[in-house]
Amino acid sequence: EIFRVEKQAAEQFCRLQKASEQAGIEILLSSAYRSVERQQEIRDEFLAEYGEDYARRYVAVPGYSEHHTGLALDFVAGIDGKWLIENEEIIDRAQELQPVYDLLPGFGFILRYLKGKEEVTGYPAEPWHIRYVGDPAVAAEIMERGITLEEYLGEAGLH
Ligand code: DAL
Ligand code: ZN
Repeated sequence: EIFRVEKQAAEQFCRLQKASEQAGIEILLSSAYRSVERQQEIRDEFLAEYGEDYARRYVAVPGYSEHHTGLALDFVAGIDGKWLIENEEIIDRAQELQPVYDLLPGFGFILRYLKGKEEVTGYPAEPWHIRYVGDPAVAAEIMERGITLEEYLGEAGLH
């Protein structure tokens, strides 16, 4: 599958991949830019496979996904040759991905949907979904404070 990613985010993701591999974790894209039609397909697939409740919780309404920007990326991870692919596996073993999370800000990425921030973001924790924000200093501030993009932008007065 060919993934489409905003150019700068793509370059930085490649660097993140290399750094992550050096830290012992392989990462590969599992989703990137999505058209509104593709988001609808994903929502329909989730509906069929997991039911309405789960699909509504995890998959944005087509037209409202951050994946439409090309700046949001989902990844799967390989640790010691064992791949974490399914969402539930990644949720269960998210702690093992800490080395990847630690590397994110250096390349301008943040972990986007955090545990305990469901009320702020509108989504459950998604330990596979990262967002390119560009400036490593901004990414570092967001990650170090454990806040969401909504909270950061709100403080900056950008509602
Ligand atoms: N899973 C994220 C929230 C999306 O569908 O955009
Ligand atoms: Zn995602």
